[in-house]
Amino acid sequence: MENCVKEKEGKKRIYLKKLISETPNKLDIINYLNHSLNLDYTMHYFKVAILFVLLLWLSSCDFNKKPSVKAAVISTSTEPYKMEHFTIENSSGITIEILNLGGIIQSIRTPDKNGAIKDIVLGFTDAEKYSGEHPYFGAIVGRFSNRIAEGKFNLEGKTYTLATNNGPNHLHGGIKGFDKVFWSASPFSNKNSSGVTLSYMSKDMEEGYPGNLAVVVTYTLTEDNILKVHYQAQTDKITVLNLTQHSYFNLSGDFSKQILDHQLQLNADQFLQTDANQIPNGTYQDVANSPFDFRTPKTIGQDIAAENEHLKIGKGYDHCWVINKQEAAMVKTATVYHPKSGRVMEVFTDQPGVQLYTGNFLDNTLPSKTGGTYGPQSGFCLETQHFPDAPNQSSFPSTVLNPGETFTSETWFKFSVNNN
Ligand code: GLA
Repeated sequence: MENCVKEKEGKKRIYLKKLISETPNKLDIINYLNHSLNLDYTMHYFKVAILFVLLLWLSSCDFNKKPSVKAAVISTSTEPYKMEHFTIENSSGITIEILNLGGIIQSIRTPDKNGAIKDIVLGFTDAEKYSGEHPYFGAIVGRFSNRIAEGKFNLEGKTYTLATNNGPNHLHGGIKGFDKVFWSASPFSNKNSSGVTLSYMSKDMEEGYPGNLAVVVTYTLTEDNILKVHYQAQTDKITVLNLTQHSYFNLSGDFSKQILDHQLQLNADQFLQTDANQIPNGTYQDVANSPFDFRTPKTIGQDIAAENEHLKIGKGYDHCWVINKQEAAMVKTATVYHPKSGRVMEVFTDQPGVQLYTGNFLDNTLPSKTGGTYGPQSGFCLETQHFPDAPNQSSFPSTVLNPGETFTSETWFKFSVNNN
């Protein structure tokens, strides 16, 4: 800009010299041109000032909705605890409802390929319903998600006995696991995200597990449409830990429809074979040439009814896949695509396993948010976690947490649409 002004100024001075030599009334011309040169400078600075003010105004403008969080106490009926409800929202219009009870994700609303926004997770419209029996809808599961054989494990020569609430097994933390307790919740919102931080102090020997365990789970919805679930825990005695998020997804947004038409891709070459009680039997089975092969996308329904002893045990998919190891801290684990709506969900995690559960035990006894009841395969879960029964299987990655250590883990659910 400065060069341009100098050049202009130079040209005018040459023109001025020419005029002076050719014109009789030299003084008038000199006055006129000098005035016009000064005016040029003034105009230039004026324009720069206007541009500057314009830029300042633009930067302060709120063209999009910002990430936000709303909090409300929705009942006092469960005194001494109050049911608290939070809605987090980003500027693309994704909203997520969270309860302090069980850290439950009550709803996730996302747009389809035509922009129609629908709730894509199973659960209840009435938050009070979550105080009753339900199959871990949207909940944080702990202290130990999945199964522990016969509800027993040893740590440093001591045997710990847990509730057996799943046939002969201990399942999902016991009778009153993390899905049924009230968490302290605090909402937050900043420029690029909003969320809720949930904390819970699980007392020594709660549900039979040793150690006072301080757990913090943070849900964050980002501006790039990722729901991040961050887990952190510390103990004062040696213990075991396996945390997960138990949302049931149905990307159609219509829970009267089964999820068999969803296309799934899993980044896993192996899954863990189980015995008849769904306890891993120690065999890492290659998925190749089996209904468990989701290495290239296929519909969940394609092989779910195949003649296979492991599918029989789970009444469909209810197995832990071994996520292929990669260098990245957050490994892409799964991609789910629902062709009709165009909705896509990708799952990333730092955990070694993912339990694909296709809602096989949903039995039409619970009322659906979209009318009717929840039937078998009306939702699927992708529970990122450590391997089931790890406390009893020394070949599995360890789930032991020692005093002085901090357990951290993260899982991401990324929402998008495919317009094809
Ligand atoms: C997990 C288990 C299933 C079932 C559901 C809850 O996903 O693997 O077998 O218990 O939780 O119903």
